[in-house]
Order: sequence, then C-alpha cells, then structure tokens
Amino acid sequence: MGKYLINGRKKISGTLKLSGSKNSSLPILAASILNSGTTIIHNCPDISDVRIAIKILKHIGCKVFFEKNTVVIDSSSVNFYDVPHDLVKQMRSSIIFCGSLLSRMKKVAISYPGGCSLGKRPIDFHIAAFKKLGAQIFEEDGNIICHGENLKGCEINLNFPSVGATQNIILAAIFANGTTKIINAACEPEIVDLQNFLKKMGADINGAGTSEIIINGVKTLHAVEYTVIPDRIVAGTFLLSAVITNGEIEITNVIPEHLPLKNFLQLGCFIKTNENKIFLRAPDFIRPIENLQTVPYPGFPTDLQAQFVSVLSIANGKSIVHEKIFESRNKHIPQLIKMGAKIKILPDGTTFIIDGVKNLHGTNLFSKDLRGGAALILAALTAEGKTIVHDENYIERGYEKIECVLQNLGADIKFMQ
Ligand code: UD1
Repeated sequence: MGKYLINGRKKISGTLKLSGSKNSSLPILAASILNSGTTIIHNCPDISDVRIAIKILKHIGCKVFFEKNTVVIDSSSVNFYDVPHDLVKQMRSSIIFCGSLLSRMKKVAISYPGGCSLGKRPIDFHIAAFKKLGAQIFEEDGNIICHGENLKGCEINLNFPSVGATQNIILAAIFANGTTKIINAACEPEIVDLQNFLKKMGADINGAGTSEIIINGVKTLHAVEYTVIPDRIVAGTFLLSAVITNGEIEITNVIPEHLPLKNFLQLGCFIKTNENKIFLRAPDFIRPIENLQTVPYPGFPTDLQAQFVSVLSIANGKSIVHEKIFESRNKHIPQLIKMGAKIKILPDGTTFIIDGVKNLHGTNLFSKDLRGGAALILAALTAEGKTIVHDENYIERGYEKIECVLQNLGADIKFMQ
C-alpha cells in the first residue's frame, strides 16, 4: 500500500497538458487483436490499468512494446484464448477482451469479474448479447467459457446504455455474418473513439455517439496507427483541483465538449474554452448545486461524482447529489466526514445531502476506489494541515503520476511506497 502526503492550502495554478483516455485505451487495446497484424496506439496513458491490458495481450500471444505513451502491438501470433484470473481480478474491465477474443479466436475463457466497491456490477447484458449473436456460453470452475464459431448479426436492445456491454457487442459483431444493430447503445465519447479506431482498421460500423449503432460484419481488418482521445475524467479532476484551492488552471490537449462544463459553471467558475483548451478560474465562494444527478453521457458522469462531492463539501450552502449509475459509489463520503465535511447519506445509499463547511482539516484517510481516491486528494489540497491518503494502488489505475502533475501546479504532495 502506498500513501500520498499532502500539506493543504496551496493554490493550484498553471498549465497542464492532458493525458490520453483510460476508458478509450482499454477497449482499443483489446480491439487491437482483430487485425492479426501491427497496431500502433499513441497517447496511451502510462497507468496500471493499461499495463494490465498489456499483460493480457502478451499472455494471449501478442508482442507488445510500450514507451512514451505509444503502444506497438503485433497480434499476428495470438494463440491463447483465456484471460487469467489474477488479471481479471485486478481489472474488472478485462471483460472487454471477451468480445475481441470471441471475434479473433472464436472462443474465450475468462473468470467471472464479480462485484467491486462500486456495487454489484453484473455482466448479464454482455452475456445475453453474446448468446443472441449465436455464442454458446457455459460456466466451468468459476470461468465463463464462450464458443462462437458462426456468429450472426442481429438486433440487440440494451435495457440500459451500458458502456462495457456496448463495446463488447461491437467487438463481437465485427466479423459476424450480416448486420448487428445495437439499440439503446451507450453514447460516451469512448464509444465514438472505439468506432473511429475500428473504422481506420477497415471495419464497417456507424452510429457511435447516438443510441443506435450498426455493424456490418467484414472478413478481415488491416494494420492501423491511431491516437486515443484525451481523458475527460482526468481533465475534470484537475479542473476541480483549481476550484477547491481557489486557484486557476489551463488544460491543453482537451476536448472541451466532452466535459460537463455546465456543472462547473453552476459552481460559479469562470471558464473560457477554445478548440483544445480550457481555462478555469475558481470562484471566491463555491456555489452549492441543488440537484446534481449522475446520468449516462452527455449528462453528468458518475466518474466525476466523488470529486464534485469533495468540492461541494466546502460550498457556500446545501447541495444534493444523486448517484444514479452505481448503487454503492459512496465510499469516499465517510472519509470526507473524517475531515470535517457535513454529508449525510440517505438510506438508499445513493442520495447525499451536503451542508457546505468553511474548512476541512487534514487527517489519515483510506481510498477505497479510483475516483473516490482522487476525491480525497482534492479534499486534502484544501484542508488545513497535513493529510495522508493511504491507497491500495487505486489512484495509479487511472491517473498518470498524479503527485507530479499536482506538484507542477503548485501543490505540496508526495507519494511514498
Ligand atoms: C464504464 C467505465 C466506468 C464508468 C461507467 C459508467 C470503463 C473501463 N469503465 O464502466 O469508468 O463509471 O462506464 O459510465 O470504461 N450493468 C448491468 N449489467 C451489465 C452491465 C452493466 O446491470 O451487464 C449496469 C451496471 O451495474 C451499472 C450500469 O449498468 O449500474 C452502468 O454500467 P456500465 O456502463 O456497463 O459501466 P462499465 O462499462 O462497467
């Protein structure tokens, strides 16, 4: 377990060049095996989730080089179809290899990813969709085994626009016979990025970014070089680091329309954007938000909920936050309460009533998940005195050297193993 040592009350100020998107890189790495050749991916963040995806690629037979945010993958000799349990355990989204291995190897063996600290997180939509495409699926010793020799295009109507299920269906349908239509598909920018990557390899897929995606099966795909989009959640987190310390920040290499800027304006921030830059100046008094609900894109993202809760805990009044995507995404709240925040979790576990306080104080904290951990670091930046955030390697799953980035922006933060 590592720990972040933070002396609070230092203003964040400066410019930051944003890193590539984790949630785009992971499905794109999984999709790289579909061309049986060379894939070059630029702007891939150097984070532990990406390193786990690379371990899976190597395990199934790819040659992979990763240097300076560029990954080169040779997938010509993929010869395994299993995803080892210890890797699935470390990264739930390993499940995304199900769709790509089904397309490439016609079979997959992967251990059940199970729940995690955000709640149950089932994979029933993924399984039902693979079955509808014609895959045979059974369980053996806790592993899910899928066989899909002759997948056939079909219409798949998702009960909820699941990001992972939409990606997995796209990957499984890429070589299927005929046309697959996904209705009520997720519209997140990471789905559009996956589509753009696949199209560049020669896939016939359209509609990503809307709720209907159409995939016409093709026979083969070719080598590709691609640049991943910037990470909107990392951007949102660093914008909030300026808000919570009454500072200002410029983020470059960002796609402003991917961010919920409306919600930053609700906090009272001054924001200026151009094509690939966002400048934000914090308000002197953070305004509370009466009703903030997490919803699928283009609404307010669940992956920024915890960080907004940290900021709202020092707002000038009362806020109500509703977590509508994950039933247990509230583990950061008891930690914030330890710092002096006044937050009540209603019995449903997903409604948080926040009475803004003037100051938080430093103490010993424990991160319980990736974004919740980032939220604690934000709170520590504004807290009086010293905070230690103990972290079981959650934060490095999604943030490239967060302590160095924050140091460069003026924070007093150190990481110790
Ligand atoms: C992805 C993101 C994660 C983000 C989430 C929601 C990646 C690697 N992760 O996760 O950062 O927080 O989208 O934007 O991109 N559900 C089911 N059955 C299923 C699948 C999902 O009931 O088979 C439910 C989930 O429990 C959850 C909701 O659907 O309540 C949304 O989950 P989903 O969009 O699938 O999230 P992930 O793809 O796991």
